[in-house]
Amino acid sequence: MTSYLTAKSTQNLVDIESRYKLIKPRPQLPNFAAYIEGVDLSRPLSQAVKDELYQALLDFELLLLPPQKLTPAQHLDLASAFGPISPGAFFDRSKEHSQIEVIETDAKRPPAIDHWHSDLSWLAEPPAGTVIQITEGPEVGGNTVWASTTKAFAALSPGLKEYLRGLTATHTWEVSNWRNYLEGFGEEVLGNALRHFKPVSHPVVLTHPDSGKEALFVNETFTKKIDGVTGPESRGILHFLYNWIKQPEFIYSHKWERNGIAIWDNRTTQHYASADYWPHRRVNRRVTFDARGVQRNTVNLLSVVGGDTHRPQKVYGT
Ligand SMILES: [Fe+2]
Repeated sequence: MTSYLTAKSTQNLVDIESRYKLIKPRPQLPNFAAYIEGVDLSRPLSQAVKDELYQALLDFELLLLPPQKLTPAQHLDLASAFGPISPGAFFDRSKEHSQIEVIETDAKRPPAIDHWHSDLSWLAEPPAGTVIQITEGPEVGGNTVWASTTKAFAALSPGLKEYLRGLTATHTWEVSNWRNYLEGFGEEVLGNALRHFKPVSHPVVLTHPDSGKEALFVNETFTKKIDGVTGPESRGILHFLYNWIKQPEFIYSHKWERNGIAIWDNRTTQHYASADYWPHRRVNRRVTFDARGVQRNTVNLLSVVGGDTHRPQKVYGT
């Protein structure tokens, strides 16, 4: 019988010395959240470095790169190491490049990402991950916190794992702040979003296609219910899982330096952007990427719902 402590610990650490020749990952927790040394983003990345970076993302789920100012081309090139560039979400776009989203917060635009989620889990094929750079930030606070949902799943008892493997859950943006945000553009945009982006079902336990790791894939921002069980059972199981995921052994909180860079696997992690720095200013530039092999039309979601031709009256995001 596996003991509680054994279940929470990571039994097989990645053998960094034998696996990596060009980059040096320094994990902050066992097999999670690695600082990456040895990557010069001011020059084009070789395929061999890109391959090691992708292997590191599979191994450590969250990569943190030392501060380096990225041009839009460098930002996109870095993201392309992990998968094809994705259309992103409903955030405003950089003037320099439409595939770079910019989340600017300040006294007039308060932060609104202080809740646990994986990005766009309400899409049939959510993005595989995201590359963000914080180009302006507060003196203190404004950390981003990530949870490893593979660690959280691995620590569950065998019986509960088996029960969860048989379940799917419904995800929708309609239960999140996106509803208020899109409503702010007017009825027409909200109606377009309701028609275009219907609720979807995903397995509660996702098997990563490239690493084979199993991850809990429910989040308190976008998951509406577990399918095929009663309301009380769904609420009870989800409440348990959301709390389980937040345990300190599964969580890394990152203090940003200006122009710091983070890359996460959206399938095996969830994140939470601390809002404690408000009303100070913070600028987050992000590029999302899809799973390798996924070919998607690259129209951005805001233009799909007509949001690019309407002025929002309210600012919300997720
Ligand atoms: Fe996010």
